[in-house]
Amino acid sequence: MTDHLQPVEHETSLRRFTGHVAVITGAAGGIGRACALRFAQEGANVACLDVNDVANDASAEACRRYGRQAISLHCDVSAPDDVNESIAQVMHRWGHVDILVAAAGIYTGGLLGEVTLQQWQRLLDINLTGVFLCNRAVAPIMMQRRSGSIINISSMSGKTSWAGTHEYSASKSGVIGLTRSVAMELAPYGVTVNAVCPGNTKTELVLAAARQNAPREGLTVAEWLERRASDCPMKRMAEPWEIAGLCAFLASEDARYITGQSIEVDGGMVMS
Ligand SMILES: NC(=O)c1ccc[n+]([C@@H]2O[C@H](COP(=O)([O-])OP(=O)(O)OC[C@H]3O[C@@H](n4cnc5c(N)ncnc54)[C@H](O)[C@@H]3O)[C@@H](O)[C@H]2O)c1
Repeated sequence: MTDHLQPVEHETSLRRFTGHVAVITGAAGGIGRACALRFAQEGANVACLDVNDVANDASAEACRRYGRQAISLHCDVSAPDDVNESIAQVMHRWGHVDILVAAAGIYTGGLLGEVTLQQWQRLLDINLTGVFLCNRAVAPIMMQRRSGSIINISSMSGKTSWAGTHEYSASKSGVIGLTRSVAMELAPYGVTVNAVCPGNTKTELVLAAARQNAPREGLTVAEWLERRASDCPMKRMAEPWEIAGLCAFLASEDARYITGQSIEVDGGMVMS
């Protein structure tokens, strides 16, 4: 990661989730890791799910430094057996799931004629089907307890689009539609389901987007990142913890009556 993309850590004095169990997908890096740490800081026991075992173990270890229990589970969110087995392990250990943050995701892009069917399918399998599988796995647990919060990570690309982001935008718009439908089904059970739509955030994923898009726009990776930051009304990218802050709010008692929403944390990008 280039130096100016190095995310800063954040500490909070809030303690809203003592005794809760949070399942975070994509917990090995970026936004998922920031969410795992935020929920651990606020008192939750955390299950970190990811395909990157080494980094995922490090996230779980970082959560434990806040004095909470945390486990690292190998889980490919596009594989139904992995997802179901991971949730079964969480249930075996703690007996409940109060919070799901579905953050696992990848970025690929390219002009229409360059996007292969395999590339399209792979991204949708992870970014959209993965969210569906995780929502489906935790919903019965939350419905039975008549409480819980599901937070699906979409993107500003779910609300607006740029050239060369076909499969990514389609997946993220899909997450918003899926979120509304699940929210409708779970609302009578007191379970809230919302989507969070980050703008450009300092993670490996934005670097992947820079590497793919910069050459097409005649820019270096560093120039592409600087341009994306200056395109934003707030003239900077988000820190991962700024996305985690909204996720924590949506899982808190203060957000009990908020469901089916898709909320931007993008420094004003979509508005502009
Ligand atoms: N960084 C941004 O600018 C940005 C903007 C909008 C939305 N998002 C979304 O935020 C979410 C988190 O991305 P990030 O920016 O933190 O990126 P990241 O690359 O830092 O983290 C993504 C994590 O997902 C994991 N992952 C990838 N495929 C997986 C799979 N099949 N199963 C399980 N885990 C898998 C990766 O190993 C990684 O740890 C993604 O859904 C992404 O689309 C990111």
